Amino acid sequence: MNTTIELIKDHRSIRDFKADPIEESMIEEIIHAAQAMPNSINGQQTSIIVVTDKDKRSKLAELAGGQPWIEQAPLFLLFVMDFHKTDLAAKKNGLNQVIHESVEGTMVGTFDAGLNMGAAIIAAESLGLGVVPIGGIRRSPDELIELFELPEKVFPVAGLAIGHPNSSSKKKPRLPVDTFRHNDVYQTKDLLKLIDHYDAHMTDYLKEIDREQEGNWSQFTSGVYQHVYFPKVHPAMKKQGFLNNK
Ligand SMILES: Cc1cc2nc3c(=O)[nH]c(=O)nc-3n(C[C@H](O)[C@H](O)[C@H](O)COP(=O)(O)O)c2cc1C
Repeated sequence: MNTTIELIKDHRSIRDFKADPIEESMIEEIIHAAQAMPNSINGQQTSIIVVTDKDKRSKLAELAGGQPWIEQAPLFLLFVMDFHKTDLAAKKNGLNQVIHESVEGTMVGTFDAGLNMGAAIIAAESLGLGVVPIGGIRRSPDELIELFELPEKVFPVAGLAIGHPNSSSKKKPRLPVDTFRHNDVYQTKDLLKLIDHYDAHMTDYLKEIDREQEGNWSQFTSGVYQHVYFPKVHPAMKKQGFLNNK
């Protein structure tokens, strides 16, 4: 094992931050690490909005459904998929961009934004900072697009609140690795048994951290996945030019 892998495996989301600001040199390191990730066709169809302004963070906390740690953390990174830049390239070459209208385009943009965020998480944690990803921003995509003046063909994928941890949290156990790693072919056998095992493990974990009422993994996840919990995403994507019809 090495220290990079140890750091990654020790990840846990932090939702309790000190007010201390983050040095600009650290922000730059995090952004450069995020930008260094591989990306599809070297199209570089992502961008990051760096938010330190307190009023904007407070607005974001509200738009994300009331998440106080967004306002508390001195830094918020908004990861967007960005086919605006590639569209400028198309126009420069007298061509018509259509990829942003396709499901493939949405997959490429969101996947690349995820890679950016993954690297930002590792970079921030390696600097002793705490992070929590924020998908809650997709609750209010229209307001976000307006707040950050996102042009057409740009869409907010997720955010990352970053700060100096005020307290730590207990590492959250994952499903047994055999549900995650499939050798040569996808293995459905034993999945339910492994899920039962994990549900029992999660029940114990939640008891330990006094959050038993949340329900174990299968209860919680199936409850959430009964609904499209961010219904404004689809119409807002269409407005930004992401038709997803190809
Ligand atoms: C894309 C994404 C969106 C998330 N959105 C939120 C969010 O809006 N609010 C929040 O408190 N946590 C959010 N999380 C954090 C997850 O709840 C957390 O990663 C998961 O429960 C596992 O816990 P851990 O990160 O402590 O290991 C998000 C995580 C990801 C990857």
